[in-house]
Amino acid sequence: MSAAAPRPFAVAASGPLIGCVAVPGDKSISHRAVMLASLAVGESRVEGLLEGEDVLATAAALRAMGATIERGADGAWRIHGVGVGGLLQPEAALAMGNSGTSTRLLMGLVASHPITATFTGDASLSRRPMARVIEPLARMGADIIASPAGRLPLMVRGLLPAIPIRYTLPVASAQVKSAVLLAGLNTPGITTVVEPVATRDHSERMLRGFGAELTVEETGEGRVIGVRGEAELVPQHIIVPGDPSSAAFWTVAALVVPGSDLLLPNVLLNPTRDGIYRALRLMGGDIAIVNERETGGERVGDLRVRHSALTGIEVPPELAPSMIDEYPALFVAAAFAQGRTVARGAHELRVKESDRIAAMAAALGTAGVAVEEHEDGLTIDGTGGEPLPGGGRVATRLDHRIAMSMAIAGLHSRRPIAIDDAVPIATSYPTFLATMARLGASPTWLNA
Ligand code: S3P
Repeated sequence: MSAAAPRPFAVAASGPLIGCVAVPGDKSISHRAVMLASLAVGESRVEGLLEGEDVLATAAALRAMGATIERGADGAWRIHGVGVGGLLQPEAALAMGNSGTSTRLLMGLVASHPITATFTGDASLSRRPMARVIEPLARMGADIIASPAGRLPLMVRGLLPAIPIRYTLPVASAQVKSAVLLAGLNTPGITTVVEPVATRDHSERMLRGFGAELTVEETGEGRVIGVRGEAELVPQHIIVPGDPSSAAFWTVAALVVPGSDLLLPNVLLNPTRDGIYRALRLMGGDIAIVNERETGGERVGDLRVRHSALTGIEVPPELAPSMIDEYPALFVAAAFAQGRTVARGAHELRVKESDRIAAMAAALGTAGVAVEEHEDGLTIDGTGGEPLPGGGRVATRLDHRIAMSMAIAGLHSRRPIAIDDAVPIATSYPTFLATMARLGASPTWLNA
């Protein structure tokens, strides 16, 4: 998984981006579809699954714990689950690659099964904090031995029966919430998570869809979510909508490259995920949502995005949970806006696949953008629609979203932007560069 040799590439200025881009399936929903289908009794069918390395790591881990997971010739996945409580002891360590979602959610599943699993990851994942999941899972009775500072590699020895807890999230994290709820699936009684700040709710929606008994209450403390354990999950037919995090790159590209007009069909518009579109509209972005509809319990729509004169804004910090993965793309939009954009209150960016505040400050600085780094965000002075100076070689730091954001920045730059590694892009969007080439821009490979 990202142990491959780095593949540097460069992106030069492009003509208008015109046409239609169908982005791959949503990453968060894809992980959860594979996990819950692996715990259902019988066969589920998943269409539109994201076939990125992160989701494939989840699938490989669940195969190693007994599920049957196969891709049909028609591109649909058939998943035969083992039933809640039926996960088997894996024979080898579970290789999580670059994927925090795989690691944290699967740790939750293992925590309430009578098995022991070791989790390993690449250099990026091995730097990320796991104490935030270790703490609640240990309260449920799991025995977890981690590397220093609560990092990978780590070993989880599950407890049967685990202990139901009521847990208030100390950080706004859908991964921590989901880890506890998934542990609760095989725990007697009701496991409760209180989230003071709402985060993406795909676990809740999908748990209900698979037949788990789940309650959600809005209270003065925040959202209180309870799941009844020893659940029996019923196989489902799932159609995964397009990933709004992937669509965000093309949205920013169309907004900043003069003359562009892109249609992005079938994008997930769940209100816990659409913050980037709200922020870009505040900047003056022409983003129309057409054919809005509901598919499989999720809101989806087609986005039509046209080149726009963007204006700098103070990014409302309350949007952070609903656009946490999209800040790198937003920073690129800000680099082309008229005036100053200030994004604060996004401290969690420091512990993503890279420290995204430092990584984007350095990357934009390399491309000639005026940027100031804060503890919890960036201030960016935009070009007012003029191309970036470009040039230099950007460090991606094993982070797919840094690579893709800076590739988009290159589409409207005086000199090409070189990026030190394309390999991480495959974790979430393997066809990204091919799509860029199809749109008429031509990413070129460089010597390492
Ligand atoms: C995710 C939750 C978010 C997000 C990640 C996917 C999920 O992480 O950044 O890419 O699928 O639950 P946090 O829970 O750390 O905020």
